[in-house]
Amino acid sequence: MNIALVGYGSVGKGVAQVFLNKRDLLKQNFELSISLKGIFSSKGALIDPNGLNLESILGSKDLTVHPSWHQELSFLETIDDLDLDLVIEVTPTNIKDGEPGKSHIISSIKKGCDVVTANKGPLVVAFNELSQLAQKNESILRYEGSVGGGIPVFNLVRETLQGNSIHSLSGILNGTSNFILTQMTYERTSFESALKTAQELGYAEADPTADVEGFDAASKTVILANGLFGMNKGIDDVYIQGITKVTPEAIELAKTDNFVIKHICSIEDGQIEVAPRLIQKTSPLAVDGTLNVVSLKTDLAKEITIIGRGAGGEETASAILSDVVDIHLTRVS
Ligand SMILES: NC(=O)c1ccc[n+]([C@@H]2O[C@H](COP(=O)([O-])OP(=O)(O)OC[C@H]3O[C@@H](n4cnc5c(N)ncnc54)[C@H](OP(=O)(O)O)[C@@H]3O)[C@@H](O)[C@H]2O)c1
Repeated sequence: MNIALVGYGSVGKGVAQVFLNKRDLLKQNFELSISLKGIFSSKGALIDPNGLNLESILGSKDLTVHPSWHQELSFLETIDDLDLDLVIEVTPTNIKDGEPGKSHIISSIKKGCDVVTANKGPLVVAFNELSQLAQKNESILRYEGSVGGGIPVFNLVRETLQGNSIHSLSGILNGTSNFILTQMTYERTSFESALKTAQELGYAEADPTADVEGFDAASKTVILANGLFGMNKGIDDVYIQGITKVTPEAIELAKTDNFVIKHICSIEDGQIEVAPRLIQKTSPLAVDGTLNVVSLKTDLAKEITIIGRGAGGEETASAILSDVVDIHLTRVS
């Protein structure tokens, strides 16, 4: 399978490392040989029509001195020259217009490639447009890594809950805000102090707005609403309340009744919400630290809850790899 990797940050590097580490397993278990033809960053690209040597790339600290490096060469300039089956799109999320990922995905689909992405931006602003374009061009578009990192939500429903109707969904989809609320609950700290700890530990960005104001969680909930419930929603359709106004006093009061305050995403009766909610301490939703959780209510299987790591290069690469393998198996069947 000839692949281009667009974006070589935390997730892109995780994907390259996993392709290298799992090379023998993929051949043995799925008869899948991956040839990475191009790796793209914002500054240029590594290109080799015969397949890039991942050992030398992953071992290299400065890609711009690698023999396969082309300064300022962009994916859109190159796509016509590369013989690609599949494109992995992992550039930064932009929920205003979905770029640059949206253009990368559209061009890939129009070129007849299958696409795997963990980039929330294009899916939040143009989910139905991209799905319909993929259908029209007989391309497969997969996005397991875009929600919940390594937690397999979409694949769980598609592959193991066939025939079930999903009535509702609730969950925690942002590890940073969950870490902050956990600190406030068990260390009895203020929001500001918990945020500082999260930043020191690398769980929160210098600008934590997207996490603590709920936009990141809302983006993921929109993708779930469109991808699992067949809705046609955007970020403006979500009722969003962040965690910045949660006080230590409210948390202490909740505790006296065996409740905790969690930042809960929910999809129910066509309504999408992200807001702090009181959750029973014994509920499967009451996961702590940076963990994510998704709970589905279905007609046949009833309630199903999955818990796991919602971020991380290797965790997200796991979701991307599962999409790549699934597309390979679909194409060879
Ligand atoms: N990190 C996670 O745990 C996680 C989990 C789930 C989903 N995601 C999503 O996955 C995506 C990647 O996340 P990340 O953490 O890997 O981000 P990141 O570390 O910021 O890396 C982004 C990469 O995209 C490159 N890039 C930017 N503009 C580009 C362009 N026009 N063409 C080609 N490459 C371009 C950047 O190049 P430079 O290096 O030159 O800047 C960088 O290599 C994001 O959409 C994120 O929301 C991340």
